[in-house]
Amino acid sequence: MRQLIPRPNRDVEPDLAVVYAYPGHTRRWVRANMVASADGAAQAEGKSGGLSGEADKKVFRALRGLADVILVGATTVRTEGYRQPATPREQYARLREAAGQAPAAAIAVISASLELDFDAPLYREAAVPTITITVSDAPPDRLAVAQEAGEVLIAGTGRADVRFAIDRLAASGRGRILCEGGPHLLAEVARVGRLDELCLALSPQLLAGHAMRILDGPPLEPPLPLTLHTLLAEDGFLFTRHLVTNRATP
Ligand SMILES: NC(=O)c1ccc[n+]([C@@H]2O[C@H](COP(=O)([O-])OP(=O)(O)OC[C@H]3O[C@@H](n4cnc5c(N)ncnc54)[C@H](OP(=O)(O)O)[C@@H]3O)[C@@H](O)[C@H]2O)c1
Repeated sequence: MRQLIPRPNRDVEPDLAVVYAYPGHTRRWVRANMVASADGAAQAEGKSGGLSGEADKKVFRALRGLADVILVGATTVRTEGYRQPATPREQYARLREAAGQAPAAAIAVISASLELDFDAPLYREAAVPTITITVSDAPPDRLAVAQEAGEVLIAGTGRADVRFAIDRLAASGRGRILCEGGPHLLAEVARVGRLDELCLALSPQLLAGHAMRILDGPPLEPPLPLTLHTLLAEDGFLFTRHLVTNRATP
């Protein structure tokens, strides 16, 4: 992997734990990690897997290795088959311990329907309990199963208040948040003013068709301006790290 921006003094393999370190000045930082084709598709045949590659997986693992919580929408969990908890990785163990973090990030699934498989290893075999973010009027039988399977965070009624949920996670000492999508959840995180950073992997392929973009839903009014912070490259992929403009820089 090569770092292109900022230009390093020497052409050495960048240390992703350093490049993507969470800022130390704040107790809450929400970064999103998404992959898109060069023509902006966030899905290939309905999933993101076809857009990915080894280089992209390297960044994906690094970002997971640094986070306290991985926030993900229920449709992504259902379509991408999120069945496993995040794996504690030797590479990040010392760093996490020094930062007072759990051995791996907890996955937090947001869902109002609770149409989720609470018997999956994601819930039953998680070293760090999986969190379900939901609403007080979720189907009571499903809510009971969710509560038995892990931690439940009730964030309002009807539709979960994403800002409240993120703030609650941060207040409980889990403020290094990584949003892995999907596009509807990510747009909502941006809309409620909680997106600080976008990590985008630009996959070297063109798809055309009618796939979703990395944010979907009603337009953001006004649009959210971004500032380029870092650019990496490997295997034809570009990896951008954009900060939402006017946030304090890391
Ligand atoms: N390119 C990428 O990097 C990337 C990343 C992730 C996903 N994807 C792709 O994106 C697609 C899925 O994304 P999506 O945008 O359709 O769905 P999504 O954002 O993953 O999930 C939407 C679902 O999450 C729950 N949800 C979201 N916000 C909520 C809120 N405020 N309150 C309560 N529940 C909430 C609801 O679940 P319930 O229906 O259970 O109530 C909602 O139906 C898949 O094709 C996936 O492969 C691509």
